[in-house]
This record gives sequence, C-alpha cells and structure tokens, in this order.
Amino acid sequence: MKSKNLSDIIEVEKIEIVKKNISEAHGLPNECYTNDEYLEYERDHVFINNWTVIGTASSVPVSGDTKPFDLIGIPLIIIRDKNQNIRVFHNVCSHRGHKLVDKQCKQKNLIVCPYHSWSYDFNGELVRTPHIGGLNNHEVEGFDKSRSNLKEVRSKVWMDLVFVNVDSRAKDFDASIKPLEDRWSKFISKDDQKLIYHAKNFGNFEMSVNSNWKFAIENYCESYHLPSIHPELNRVSNIEDHYHIEDEDKLFSGQGSKKYSQQFDGNKKFSTFPSWPNHLYENSEYVSLFPNLMLGIHVDHFFAFWLEPLSMTQTKEHFEMYYVGEESACSNDYKELREKNFIFWQEVMNEDVSAIEGMQNGRKSPIYNGGNFSPIMDSPTHLFHKWVAENLTA
Ligand code: FES
Ligand SMILES: [Fe+2]
Repeated sequence: MKSKNLSDIIEVEKIEIVKKNISEAHGLPNECYTNDEYLEYERDHVFINNWTVIGTASSVPVSGDTKPFDLIGIPLIIIRDKNQNIRVFHNVCSHRGHKLVDKQCKQKNLIVCPYHSWSYDFNGELVRTPHIGGLNNHEVEGFDKSRSNLKEVRSKVWMDLVFVNVDSRAKDFDASIKPLEDRWSKFISKDDQKLIYHAKNFGNFEMSVNSNWKFAIENYCESYHLPSIHPELNRVSNIEDHYHIEDEDKLFSGQGSKKYSQQFDGNKKFSTFPSWPNHLYENSEYVSLFPNLMLGIHVDHFFAFWLEPLSMTQTKEHFEMYYVGEESACSNDYKELREKNFIFWQEVMNEDVSAIEGMQNGRKSPIYNGGNFSPIMDSPTHLFHKWVAENLTA
C-alpha cells in the first residue's frame, strides 16, 4: 500500500526529536493527533505492518459465524471455518468488488455476495458463479475460479484476541508475543492461558471517545495520573505501589501494581490461575501492547481493552473480561461477583475518558510542540511515542 510521504504531512525533524533521550525528547507532534492526511500514513506504517487486534474469537463461536471489521477503511471479515479455526479475509468480492458482508451474521455453508451471488466457502474458495456464462450457464470457458478466491489475511488468535498482519511483513506472531509471554511466565504458564474464559455476562462493553486512539494507549501505560484521575483506586492501589514496565524490544510498556486485592462476596472469590505463585498474589500488571491493545492481568482475572480508530479524533474502545475456568466465567453462582468486578473496571475506564479527551482538546493549540516527559514518571509513555516514531520513519 502506498500513502503520501511523511515529509508531505509533517516536518520529519518533529518525528526525529521524539526518538531522543527522554530528557531531550518531545512527544509526537500535533499533526499525529489532528491531521486527517496523517491517518492514512499511520494506517500503512503503524497498523497494517504490525500485529493489530480486530476482535475476539469468542464473538464468533460457531462455524459460519462472520463479523465484518473495517481497519481504518480496509474492509475485513472474521469467520470461523468448518474446522473451528478463525480465518480473516479481505471483505471484497472478486467479481465487481462489492463488499461481501456488512453486518455480523451466521453463514450456512457459503459467503454469498449480495450483488450477483458469487459464493465462497469458509476457506475463501470461489465455488459458485451463477450465470457467469449466460442465463443458466454457471461456468464459462477460460474462467478459472481458483484465481478469484478471497484474499486471506495473516491472522492469529492469542488469549481469545484476533490479531492480523495485513501486509504480511511483521515477524512471526509467536516471536512477537514472546517477550510479553516471557514476562508473564512468572504469573501464568502456557497451560494457564487455556483456562481463560470470556465472561458469560458482564463480559464486555464499548465506549466511543472523542480522542485519537494513541491517547488511550499512552494514558494506560502510566500510573502518574492515578492520584488525580482515579482517587478511589489510588486509595487501595497507591501510586507508590506501582512500578514501570518497559519492554527491551519496545513492543509494550505499562505499569504494575503490588497491591491488587481480589473481589469477594462473603467467602466467595473467583478461581485463580494454578501456576500463579503465592508471593506474587497481590501483583497485577497493565500493559499497552502496541499498536492498539491494553491488557490487565491479575491472579483471578484477565481483561483486554482494544481500540478501533474511527477517525483522527474518534475511537471506539472495546473492553473484554475473562476469568479462570468456566465456573467463575459462566456460572450463575458467580454472576453477582462478575457484576461487581465489571462495574469496578468500567468506572476506572470511564474516569480515563476525561484525561484522553482533554489531551485531544489541548492538541488544537498551535504552539504546543509535543511537550516534555518526566524522566522518572513518563518513561513507559515515551517508549510508546518512540515506537510510533520509529514505525513512521522505518
Ligand atoms: S460483485 Fe460480487 S457477485 Fe458481482
Ligand atoms: Fe487511568
């Protein structure tokens, strides 16, 4: 894909300065939050060549379940195939280019184009071309169907999240996720990963915010704003009990807390990860995995908060909640506790809206140069800015 040159949109020096040492660096310039032309450049240099989240496997549970998703204008389809695997295809018919699927649906056996009914199986193979050779002639000489299959997108499911690499140039997903898995191996084993279940109710919410997607990521990875934006949370998990997380490979950054305490209802608590060690019982970690995913891991639950950029100044945030084992995630016995935990996190995430929308509003100022970073408090944020800057200029 080819968008404009970066230098046609932003003075490249403004991006280079982001990469400097934290005490000399400025943040990304206003254009990265306000300029509509920049969005397409960012899509092509930050989203499609990295592993980006576009949905969850649990939202398409049965073979034939199909969900469309537009990745900053690129139409895609997530489908569960007959072998129960998640597949992602470009959402465009090979005939005259009609969009194939425009809302979530269940396909019986085929994906049928609404225009002239060319039909594809769940492997993306073109299997029916009605009347292609004239009325009631469904074949035509010289037309080889196999050359008009749907175009598949490289995808991978991890912890229920569907990641795609649209231009196929990112390194292998397993290699990309390894630094985070290695970090979290002190909490959970590979086998523990298989125990996570999406909550049957109080399992997700969506929020639309008037902010560029990057503000959500950079706000999430720092604890500096805890006392001012989350005074209640700061009382139980004080800023002093937090530490920074910065991945050496610059794939994620965030914060950890040493004061997590489980929700309870009388004696009832959620099941915990079997391999989580006792001495880390009160630890929890919150990381932004670049570009568009925010994760939280605790001894008894896991959540994912992923971002769908709608425009330069609008983002849809999707929150997904998971528990350890089916009983905690799905049984009626735990419904009230799930509700309590859900409301807790929903309130925290709501408190952040004013912060990220406030940053968006400030970016209208023509004199703002990307600002400065606290060398002590803002290093996870700077790491994200640097990662974006390096992708923009790669
Ligand atoms: S555009 Fe899809 S069948 Fe014609
Ligand atoms: Fe926050």
